[in-house]
Amino acid sequence: MSTRSSRCIVSLLLVLLCHGAAAALATRPAPNASLAATTNGTCRSRVEPFGYRCEEHTVTTEDGYILSLQRIPSGRAGESELGRSRKVPVLLQHGLMMDGLSWLMNSPNESLGFILADNGYDVWIANSRGTVYSSGHTTLSSADPAYWNWSWDELASNDLSAMLQYVYDQAGQQKVHYVGHSLGTLIALAALSDQQPHVGMLRSAGLLSPIAFLNKVSSPLALAAADVFLAEALYWLGIDEFDPTGDAVHKLVTDICKLPGVDCYDLMSAFTGDNCCLDSSSVQIFLSHEPQATSTKNMVHLAQMIRRGMIAKYDYGNANDNTKHYGQPTPPVYNVSAIPDGFPLFLSSGGRDSLSDVQDVQRLELQALKSHDKDKLTVQYLADYAHADFVFAGNAKERVYAPLMAFFRLQEK
Ligand SMILES: *[C@@H]1O[C@H](CO)[C@@H](O)[C@H](O)[C@H]1NC(C)=O
Ligand SMILES: *[C@@H]1O[C@H](CO)[C@@H](O)[C@H](O)[C@H]1NC(C)=O
Ligand SMILES: *[C@@H]1O[C@H](CO)[C@@H](O)[C@H](O)[C@H]1NC(C)=O
Ligand SMILES: *[C@@H]1O[C@H](CO)[C@@H](O)[C@H](O)[C@H]1NC(C)=O
Ligand SMILES: *[C@@H]1O[C@H](CO)[C@@H](O)[C@H](O)[C@H]1NC(C)=O
Repeated sequence: MSTRSSRCIVSLLLVLLCHGAAAALATRPAPNASLAATTNGTCRSRVEPFGYRCEEHTVTTEDGYILSLQRIPSGRAGESELGRSRKVPVLLQHGLMMDGLSWLMNSPNESLGFILADNGYDVWIANSRGTVYSSGHTTLSSADPAYWNWSWDELASNDLSAMLQYVYDQAGQQKVHYVGHSLGTLIALAALSDQQPHVGMLRSAGLLSPIAFLNKVSSPLALAAADVFLAEALYWLGIDEFDPTGDAVHKLVTDICKLPGVDCYDLMSAFTGDNCCLDSSSVQIFLSHEPQATSTKNMVHLAQMIRRGMIAKYDYGNANDNTKHYGQPTPPVYNVSAIPDGFPLFLSSGGRDSLSDVQDVQRLELQALKSHDKDKLTVQYLADYAHADFVFAGNAKERVYAPLMAFFRLQEK
């Protein structure tokens, strides 16, 4: 199994752009996060070269994680500082094993981060804990097992609340539009379902390639990986950090690819579905920077969802441990129907997406959200789109981002 394959296959629920561009894949040196953030950070490397202003910010979560955020406060036209406090903030949340760069990988005319700035928004780009520019912690180092002791439950409760509060305050106490891709949609749905207090700072949410229910996932590779994780959870949890470039993951991939019925030949399509419209120049940028590490606990949590068909908190595997953490023998369920019916939601899904499967999305839209106010729920279906197209397609501006911004405007009246 080549390095290329192993790096691709493990991006269980995300964008795998490994088609064709394998040559670009050199082993990435272990980055010094604080050095990289100041010398090669996202602003410096990917925003300022295009003539946009960009600010690096950090925010500390309740449990001590130091997260970086990038802000693009104005568009290419470079409006004056005047009026900035009146701009509406938008927070962009990437998916699994990606980071904030996801929103900036295509040209400025094609990438959502730049497009929103050019359309008068105050753009804030999130980077989840564990990614290269958000690997700091007040007391732990990323070499400590305890640093990786979290799943998407904490991304929804702690990372999102800290970033939202920060953006809301910096923007002059203005409510924030949210855009999530893939795991970034689950984070928002979970926080909204729980009616966590910080969601009061949200104005609306745009969910691209929504992930809520995962039990119709059709990707054979994702299914096989989920089985391996659940069967060997104890072994995997001993590894703490799920580093897509590390040896343990390499072995996982090798094992999965030996299973009958799993075809590792076209990994990208096998995982995400057949993406229609990827921009090839962004593939190079992707390969030099992603996939990013996550926690093994997060992967096990996602595997639980794929195999159990529910959206619930992390399952510690037995009644005792669950009771210790949750005060009940089974993990609490996130009740998507409890999302306030009047909360503005924009859902965009693709017909060829093998991770955000059509049937799972229908269960979300038609069952879980069936009592949602019809004028607060905009649903878009793009028959030819797969998982990665929502962030990387050259035509996403016309197909997805223009309708998304039209929806935002309606919520600003
Ligand atoms: C990382 O870079 C920072 C800033 O230059 C430096 O202070 C620190 O010692 C470096 N850490 C390592 C592990 O090299
Ligand atoms: C900065 O980027 C250059 C070129 O991509 C790379 O060679 C260098 O190692 C990077 N430095 C850090 C600290 O990440
Ligand atoms: C990007 O859009 C601007 C404004 O619409 C246009 O002038 C420019 O030619 C476009 N650039 C590219 C590379 O398409
Ligand atoms: C992980 O956190 C839980 C509490 O959420 C704690 O019970 C457990 O001991 C922690 N494990 C490690 C390895 O830090
Ligand atoms: C979920 O929320 C809806 C709406 O508030 C409520 O009617 C339903 O009983 C809840 N379901 C569960 C299992 O709590």
